[in-house]
Amino acid sequence: MMQPRERFLNFLSHQEIDRPPIWLMRQAGRYLPEYLETRKKALSFKNLCYDPELACEVALQPLDRFDLDASIVFADILNLIEACGIPVEFQDNVGPIITQPFRHTNDCDKLKPFDHQLDSVLKTIQLIRNNAPNRGMIGFIGSPWTLACYAVEGKITKDLKHIKALLYSEPETLRHLLDHLTIAATKFAQQQIDAGCDCIMIFDTWGGYLPYNLFNHWSLSFQQKIVQSLKPHPVFLFTRGSHSYLNKIIDTKPAGICIDWTCPLDETLKRCQANNIILQGNFDPSLLLATPNKFASIIDNTLNKITNHNNYLPSLGHGLMPHIDPSHVALFVEHLKAYNWQLS
Ligand code: CP3
Repeated sequence: MMQPRERFLNFLSHQEIDRPPIWLMRQAGRYLPEYLETRKKALSFKNLCYDPELACEVALQPLDRFDLDASIVFADILNLIEACGIPVEFQDNVGPIITQPFRHTNDCDKLKPFDHQLDSVLKTIQLIRNNAPNRGMIGFIGSPWTLACYAVEGKITKDLKHIKALLYSEPETLRHLLDHLTIAATKFAQQQIDAGCDCIMIFDTWGGYLPYNLFNHWSLSFQQKIVQSLKPHPVFLFTRGSHSYLNKIIDTKPAGICIDWTCPLDETLKRCQANNIILQGNFDPSLLLATPNKFASIIDNTLNKITNHNNYLPSLGHGLMPHIDPSHVALFVEHLKAYNWQLS
């Protein structure tokens, strides 16, 4: 049997593997009772993000429970906004709140250059690496567009009215913010690699809300800059709701892409294989609300339609949610591990 890290690294470099590596978005989180325990100890989500010992503890919990192949660093994409001079609070049952959002040209003066503000996260990375030397490790950043959505909106909204107003009325101001965030995110991602991460994921949660013709200009082009700067280190791109943009994303040739459940798996995998790109996804996380027999047969039906599973990392198309039963997650992971993968 291969060691998980060897499996993960071989997979990233397109070398031989016994089965695809498995990890899940938001694998550490509120659906796990042990996470809730540690979070209580930390007193707040933010303390948890900035406490290397406790953050390492929660990052390792899903590895211990499900024997996953890779950890994802425990932190939040919004820590970087705070590091750039825009404070963020996390309210229970509400989500992130920015009381002084970035809305106008004069807010540009508030932006701080990113340097060593997130060294505690780098410390977490070193602890995870030391405590789980045999597992892969994924670092992450938010895409500049998605970070800007939070910085400008100040909270989760469905209409993105403030950032869209800025985009159409003061595009130079928005560009200034995105350039600033791109420099910060590139630097932070490089620091994560230097601290021991094997690859970087860019989360573009709000990219799917851009008009089709503006996606490249306001989101993908900034992600591409980051991908170029981090080369030869592998970067995965995840845009939620990316269905109609897939060709544009594939054309930028990142090491990997992650797709949600709105995209066709078999067709997208063929396109990725032709371009030597890894594809991660795309089961609906709510599938885990079905009975294990039911979701196992849906998984088999989906995977059996594919004749060649090369370059495919089977996973969910977005993060695990607090109401998902951890015993279902265990059966999901077991089922994927035991599947008869067609690899060449
Ligand atoms: O296990 C992991 O995936 C690692 C840690 C991680 C978290 N957030 C922890 C978290 C990662 C990689 C993220 C990324 C993140 N954060 C994204 C991009 C991916 C995505 O989900 O689309 C976004 C948009 C955020 C911003 C964010 N953080 C929101 C909108 C929220 C509130 C919504 C919610 O689910 O509560 C958070 C909070 C958050 N980030 C929690 C966790 C475990 C819950 C906080 C808690 O314990 O109360």
